[in-house]
Amino acid sequence: MKFFIDTANLSDIKEAQALGVLDGVTTNPSLMAKEGITGRNNILKHYVDICNIVDGDVSAEVIATTYNEMVKEGEELAELHEQIVVKLPMIKDGVKACRYFSNKGIRTNMTLVFSAGQALLAAKAGATYVSPFIGRLDDISTDGLNLIAEIRLIYDNYSFETQILAASVRHTMHVIDCAKLGADVMTGPLSSIEGLLRHPLTDSGLAKFLEDYKKGN
Ligand code: G3P
Repeated sequence: MKFFIDTANLSDIKEAQALGVLDGVTTNPSLMAKEGITGRNNILKHYVDICNIVDGDVSAEVIATTYNEMVKEGEELAELHEQIVVKLPMIKDGVKACRYFSNKGIRTNMTLVFSAGQALLAAKAGATYVSPFIGRLDDISTDGLNLIAEIRLIYDNYSFETQILAASVRHTMHVIDCAKLGADVMTGPLSSIEGLLRHPLTDSGLAKFLEDYKKGN
């Protein structure tokens, strides 16, 4: 399972990278705005800064909503750095643009996916990644994890190569449940990754080992 971090915060990205378990980064316009990154040039520069920290794929989302504009903007993003994956919204023109980029060998991430049907279309359009938003489904009393299971079944039935990128992951149990269901990738905040570390028996066990060592030395 690949671990992506879902943020535009450089210090969180560095922290996850230093842990040695990071496979990539996902961003979106809201995450950029949260870090105060505004203006086209600053946003493009920020993507390059992120690529220079991590080794893996970095999803950069288009703002355009029409096919021609998405193609233009996506090409500009893809040219920024070889690690960039063009992130496209799951709308009609987004699907068309996904097919365009797939044909050109440019990696894509179809975002804002909330149904198995949308995920099936993304795979048919040759998406590299599909991003079902599990936390936002949970927010409206729908089972986000069930969507991961449905997509896994469909993709396995037809050996689709599109990778399931569980997104809108909010906490550590989401990460564990997505791993059980066979999501290829999860993207979440730093806290969802660091939460995997913690267990009180690890802490108390280590304290006891160190205490016993001191007694004998
Ligand atoms: O990866 C998608 C993510 O950024 C959305 O997360 O927490 O805003 O639903 P959230």
